[in-house]
Amino acid sequence: MRKLAVLTGGGDCPGLNAVIRAVVKAAYHHKIEVLGIRDGFRGAVEGEFMPLGLSDVSGILPRGGTILGTTNRDNPFAYEMKLNGLTQVVDRSDDVLRNLRERGVDALLAIGGDGSLNIALKLADKGLKVIGIPKTIDNDLMATDQTFGFQTAVDTAQDALDRLHTTAESHHRVMILEVMGRYAGWIALYAGVAGGADVILIPEIPYNIDRVALAIQQRANQGKKFSIIVVAEGAKPLGGEMVVERLVSGRFDPLKLGGIGAKLGNDLEEQCGMETRVTVLGHLQRGGSPDAYDRVLSSRYGVAAVEAALDGEFGVMVALHGRDIVRVPLIQAVDRLKLVPLNDPLLLAARELGIEMGD
Ligand code: F6P
Repeated sequence: MRKLAVLTGGGDCPGLNAVIRAVVKAAYHHKIEVLGIRDGFRGAVEGEFMPLGLSDVSGILPRGGTILGTTNRDNPFAYEMKLNGLTQVVDRSDDVLRNLRERGVDALLAIGGDGSLNIALKLADKGLKVIGIPKTIDNDLMATDQTFGFQTAVDTAQDALDRLHTTAESHHRVMILEVMGRYAGWIALYAGVAGGADVILIPEIPYNIDRVALAIQQRANQGKKFSIIVVAEGAKPLGGEMVVERLVSGRFDPLKLGGIGAKLGNDLEEQCGMETRVTVLGHLQRGGSPDAYDRVLSSRYGVAAVEAALDGEFGVMVALHGRDIVRVPLIQAVDRLKLVPLNDPLLLAARELGIEMGD
């Protein structure tokens, strides 16, 4: 093992730089060279590499974002290109293999979520030595207890809820916080419990608007003239659909979600007659410095990925199982999304806390 390449793919999240730093430091320790690939798989296709030494990663542990850049489009197997003035979709996965081979790269460390790790798996099927590192604020990757970036996103959402609480109470309003979470409601669930929400709506449980309205009404009857609702962007009403803002071509998942908070706000105002305000937390959840938990987890993932490469174990993802970092087959990680199960201990606790889950 002489040379590793590393890329960050998909939506960014707090802790990416901490992983890159850990990879470079651990590789240095084992006398392995590291090449960074710019902007995820786009750079792998286009051959945009940069050497990464200790000085390049100095000071980046607390920094949000990724020094390498990232993208949640540009799939090498379905790569959009302008040919003769027309946009065409072509398979450029062979270019990735060639670019890595030409630079003497022995293995690729792919830091990514569902989309990027699916690509990594397909490249592994073509013979590339790949190790995955689980990233996403959504925490929806199978085969690991936690992805890095999730905890910091929860902290950010909880801070927003604390702030909404004081203004909700002063104005006697219903405050809705729309958080990220396309198919999995982990952020909404954890932030909602941490932030003392009265209602938590997640994609896994289609909500009955009457139940939500009743919960707010009951609070009002008990003298609580304000309510706090957390809704995941992928939540949907019973018998209804997710609210899609628009379609984005070339993205791993073309659905750009957003707007469920506004819909819920309108419906509730109509039904309860209480003044309602909506806050969409959006990309604030993805930005900023990783918290201590994510810095530790990211550092451990980076070191573990280099160790896996040294052991010659490829086609795997490093994963958190309890307190241990283990290696799991990549296929297990991307097989299906890790949704909130209906018997999840925190979900059950939320119900016992009297939080309305909308069903
Ligand atoms: O996958 C992470 C995620 O944060 C989703 O929760 C969200 O829907 C999506 O990224 C937004 O991505 P974009 O950067 O394209 O707006």
